Amino acid sequence: MSYEKAQEAAEFIRSKYGKEIEIALVLGSGLGAFANDLENAVRIPYEEIPHFARSTVEGHAGQLVIGEVGGVSVAVQQGRFHYYEGYEMEQVMFPMRTFGVLGIKKVILTNAAGSLRTSMKPGTLMLLRDHLNLMGVNPLRGANDERFGPRFPDMTQVYDKEFQAMAYEEGKQISQERFEKGLDKELTPIMLRGIYCALSGPTYETPAEIRMFRFIGADAVGMSTVPEAIAARHQGMKVLGISCITNLGAGLSGEAINHAEVMETGAKVAEIFKELLRRIISKI
Ligand code: HPA
Repeated sequence: MSYEKAQEAAEFIRSKYGKEIEIALVLGSGLGAFANDLENAVRIPYEEIPHFARSTVEGHAGQLVIGEVGGVSVAVQQGRFHYYEGYEMEQVMFPMRTFGVLGIKKVILTNAAGSLRTSMKPGTLMLLRDHLNLMGVNPLRGANDERFGPRFPDMTQVYDKEFQAMAYEEGKQISQERFEKGLDKELTPIMLRGIYCALSGPTYETPAEIRMFRFIGADAVGMSTVPEAIAARHQGMKVLGISCITNLGAGLSGEAINHAEVMETGAKVAEIFKELLRRIISKI
């Protein structure tokens, strides 16, 4: 059933944008600005796309923007569906399902996340090496449709190694250029690598939980990305994941965490983030 729905959504998107789309990009909280820079863009509000849900959270515009970045066609989700909003996992994964049916093979997932390492400060970008799914549910639970992928998908390498190496180099290059131009006083790496731990939210964590997540191997915490990454891998798509570190995890800074701060940090790194995405898209 959901395969047919994804086909309908894909058909609708094709009727609005005739060209082949090479990359799907999901923009996280506070990171939506990149979608405004696409050339020859077509904007489709989610409510117009068959079977898409609507985004409810502040800071998520809730539309699909399809256009070009340096000649490469990209479908950009400006706003995503979060589990904590009350959507079923099926709805959370649905855009990714649709992208898969559209024949898109490469996916870039981005998010805002809290850091579990005091050395990984707000404003840093963290390349996902792997994830811990602690959302309390696996999005693929339930009947499996082989047209999407196998019953027991392998998750040994969710985040593509070559994509990671390329993105890391681009990040290093940007840090170097910023230092040479005098934009940064020290040569500080803007990009690190780490393990993303996905939680259902909507509460931020307690300090005790943050200590536990550190102990079990997480470097950052957030409330998204993993369902989409799992759906994408199920369909054999290659995935790159990037977290924008917006705050230190609960208890690590002595300050309370709030959504406004998360959005603000996203806006502050917007220029670097956009530049990084432009370079990644041209190379991926
Ligand atoms: N925890 C969970 N999700 C988040 C955080 C956090 O500290 N910051 C941004 N998204």
